[in-house]
Amino acid sequence: MTAKAKKQFQAPKGTFDILPEDQKYWEKVRKVIKHVAIGYGFERIDTPAIESSDLYALSAGETTDVVEKQMYTFKSRGGDPLTLRPEGTISVMRSFLEHGMQQLPQPVKLYYMAPMFRYEQPQAGRYRQHHQAGFEVLGDQDPIYDAQVIYVCLLAGEELGLKNLSVEINSIGCSKCRPAYRSQLLRYYRSRTAKLCKDCKRRMKKNPLRLLDCKEEKCQQMHVNAPNLIDHLCQECHDHFKLVLEYLDETSIPYVLNSHLVRGFDYYTKTVFEVFLEDEHVEGGSEKSHQRSKLALGGGGRYDNLAKALGGKDVPAVGGSLGMERIIGVMKKQDVKVPTLFKPEVFLIQLGALSKKKSLRLFEDLRKAGIVVAESFGKDSIKAQLRSADRLGVKISLILGQKEAIDGVVLLREMDSGVQESVELEKIIKVVKDRLKK
Ligand code: HAM
Repeated sequence: MTAKAKKQFQAPKGTFDILPEDQKYWEKVRKVIKHVAIGYGFERIDTPAIESSDLYALSAGETTDVVEKQMYTFKSRGGDPLTLRPEGTISVMRSFLEHGMQQLPQPVKLYYMAPMFRYEQPQAGRYRQHHQAGFEVLGDQDPIYDAQVIYVCLLAGEELGLKNLSVEINSIGCSKCRPAYRSQLLRYYRSRTAKLCKDCKRRMKKNPLRLLDCKEEKCQQMHVNAPNLIDHLCQECHDHFKLVLEYLDETSIPYVLNSHLVRGFDYYTKTVFEVFLEDEHVEGGSEKSHQRSKLALGGGGRYDNLAKALGGKDVPAVGGSLGMERIIGVMKKQDVKVPTLFKPEVFLIQLGALSKKKSLRLFEDLRKAGIVVAESFGKDSIKAQLRSADRLGVKISLILGQKEAIDGVVLLREMDSGVQESVELEKIIKVVKDRLKK
């Protein structure tokens, strides 16, 4: 294949196909997320993959990397500025406001599983299209929901069989207590400006809190002695955070306080958290915290001011989401067993024009009876069809030849012993079911 042709057959940089052999992992993740979500009273929501670009400028803060550098933004043919959604929370809040969900009993608990798009430098665990499973609780300020969201995120990972998960948690305060802290932080970094990276110098002007979030080694060293946000919380944020921790203490969650944890979106207030895989060195992973290289499987927090930023009323809310590719990456690494999706028990072989015609109907009768059947109808030789049956490891092959089709019978072949017997077509379903039970 020429280099040009090869390129033509390549998915765009940072994106990939989910091939049949990987679908079992995705099926499992979707199933477990749904199960956990429904168990905790979350209802499914699906929002469009495109949103008006203004939404992100209003809500995520123009100083976040995602909004500043990573959005896929374009103009529609009609000239409307549109963006491929980089995350789900803003869309969910937009939908909540658009559909007047304040009128529903509060809180409204919603979950989603959807692709997100970020123009990032692709590396292990970081893609330009990735999928998130998210849980959002809208319309309630009670700290018990902060704890519940964190618990649900962790639980989903655990129910998927993942080991060594841990949670880091922090409070980043609110619009009342953050300004004073910001001044302190600026004072600390001002004397060290020369040593900061280019992005951090910009952050000093635009959003000093994000200084703490810098992944550059030299900047990280400076964070160690930076003033702690937790020591500067107002009474309300302090009490809220204390209760979140007390609720978490009632669960078995292994959480760690990380006073330098800030998140990549400006919409957060009070509680922020991330779910990590502990003690794993992740190749190419850049999500570092406490000088250790760890993979963030998920994250979230409270976003009480987001609705107002979008132009709506006060809607206190909290949520979190998990990166589905990263979860699946860990499942594979930890060798989590997942059932094969297509495991046929019976192979249907046809020989001759008449039996080929009848085999479609017989296949459907077997399927309807709950028997998983395979075929290779395009092949005409018995040898080739038996080879396919062998490869699939079925217990039984049913052979419908020309004579059998005329006589209204089918040959049942036990694959292990090779023993064959003739069974009347009307009785075949019952006989197959009985044999499969043995
Ligand atoms: P986030 O931390 O940006 O938060 O993304 C959540 C998770 O998605 C990350 O922890 C990571 O596992 C995964 N993820 C993010 N970017 C990528 C990428 N480029 N490639 C692969 N996986 C990625 C949010 O998006 C917030 N909306 C979470 C939230 C929900 N906050 C409140 N509710």
